[in-house]
Amino acid sequence: MTLAVYPGSFDPITRGHTSIIQAGLVAFERIVVAVLNNSEKSPLFTVDERIDMIRSSVVELGEDPSRVEVDSFDGLLVDYVRKKEARVILRGLRAVADFEYELQMANMNRHLNEHVTTVFIMANDAYFYVASNLVKEVTKLGGDVTKLVPDCVAAKLRAKLGL
Ligand code: PNS
Repeated sequence: MTLAVYPGSFDPITRGHTSIIQAGLVAFERIVVAVLNNSEKSPLFTVDERIDMIRSSVVELGEDPSRVEVDSFDGLLVDYVRKKEARVILRGLRAVADFEYELQMANMNRHLNEHVTTVFIMANDAYFYVASNLVKEVTKLGGDVTKLVPDCVAAKLRAKLGL
């Protein structure tokens, strides 16, 4: 279990996400952060912008960038995981509210490919309440989220929202 795929929307990456990447690097030699390229979700940031912010966040963390690949995917996650020759999907868990959705996804992915296992890591408790959607909403309404997102994201968020 040396390689894990950490999928998500990352619109944008938060410190909750970076806490999962850091903890994941304790358990896995390499992580592929895989940004979902899904037009249905009408994201605030383009896939390329999200990838750039994730790469900058990894540098900000002081982690070795050679251990963290940042990529995008579309279609089924298990197909992407197979393409990367990985066996593990990494997901973060915050509150109990995440559990049902994550259980459903993990079981569906296991149904689609029994060789792929989902591993959960608890988000750092300092960021249990942090979610990309809330970060966007609070910024839009004039609130300060600078402590909840990587430094490189804070300015990009404000610029994107015309603030
Ligand atoms: O950050 P998110 O939005 O909670 O991430 C959700 C994600 C990207 C992990 C999930 O939507 C996904 O895996 N989408 C790919 C399509 C897929 O494989 N669906 C079936 C598995 S439930």
